[in-house]
Amino acid sequence: MTTTELPATFLPTPLGGTLVNRVRLADPAEYAHLPALELSDRSFADLELLATGAYSPLSGFLGETDYLSVIEHLRLSDGTPWSLPITLPVTEAEAARLRGRIRLTRGGVTVGLLDTGEQYAARKSFEAREVYRTEDPAHPGVAALYAQGDVNLAGEVTLLEVPRGEFPRHHRTPAEVRAVIEARGWQSTVAFQTRNPIHRAHEYLHKVALELVDGLLLHPLVGTTNDDVPADTRMQAYEVLLEHYYPAQRTLLSTYPAAMRYAGPREAILHALSRRNYGATHFIVGRDHAGVGHYYGTYDAQEIFQNFTAGELGIRILKFEHTFYCQSCHQMVSPRTCPHDASHHLILSGTKVREKLRAGEALPPEFTRPEVADVLRRAYARQDG
Ligand code: ADX
Repeated sequence: MTTTELPATFLPTPLGGTLVNRVRLADPAEYAHLPALELSDRSFADLELLATGAYSPLSGFLGETDYLSVIEHLRLSDGTPWSLPITLPVTEAEAARLRGRIRLTRGGVTVGLLDTGEQYAARKSFEAREVYRTEDPAHPGVAALYAQGDVNLAGEVTLLEVPRGEFPRHHRTPAEVRAVIEARGWQSTVAFQTRNPIHRAHEYLHKVALELVDGLLLHPLVGTTNDDVPADTRMQAYEVLLEHYYPAQRTLLSTYPAAMRYAGPREAILHALSRRNYGATHFIVGRDHAGVGHYYGTYDAQEIFQNFTAGELGIRILKFEHTFYCQSCHQMVSPRTCPHDASHHLILSGTKVREKLRAGEALPPEFTRPEVADVLRRAYARQDG
């Protein structure tokens, strides 16, 4: 085959067929007369994700019919797979003054517009039970749901400027990620969601996947989380890891601005569908994806994908069992590949890792690359100092 006969880069169509673009550059002063709504961190992240097409086919916050359909059926009312209600909650007092076109603000600065449609009551306990599988207020997603306003505002959004966030060098919209994939000529791209530093187990998943696909989109979530490693420390850790251990031409580090909801299985679906919109053909789901505490079974986030055909998802899910280092195999393994019992395995809980870091102890290289361990150790020393 000559080069000219090579097929073009393969990019999946966005969910719904076209990449939503609701970014309209404009002078915020033009809208100063409109009623204003100050956005929470999560809603600001959702505004960006909606307007840049990461949540295609959604172009705004859900109306009531779609809200109920997503909660009950894991689908929008037209049948498109969708797993988490993307809503804009406000208090009753706010709802009363927010009609027609309103402006959305951050720190008082106008960042976007909302053409408000219907206003409807959030069904909080129904949403908690179905989406989070618990009504326990100790669950961080449920706690956030109970703390927010009781009325959801529906409507199409407009973003006046793409926010470049804390990490402008690594910030890319879905269209920009697609352009990189195209420039690199990847026929297939695996996306990896993470909210943690990358340990050897994660790296193993990436490298197994990279034996099969052309490129890795390392796509850490950098919106609000309740976890204790801040996003800037994580970004430093990703950078040193990529520099030392990954093939530069086959990896792309880019931030995913969403907030964590800790909805486990439901969130895994949203994570996968939005990564299709960013141009990924494959998505990794390992153990307890987007989980917290003991609310979800280890592989619930894999099983939930049985509700859809591969065709309707439009992205292939690479499912991995729990992986860890085996001292007798001398490599990363999973129960699928290792014959040795637990006494041969090096498994460190998050709590144990934190204890070691706080005590200034080194993490074993079988668990974390030394360059990454160093970044983490320095960050913990700063926190405690
Ligand atoms: S998550 O909230 O983003 O899912 P995390 O950053 O811990 O949290 O995990 C990122 C991805 O790696 C998820 O798909 C998760 O299932 C997977 N994962 C994390 N650790 C392991 C492990 N030891 N074995 C298999 N999969 C794992």
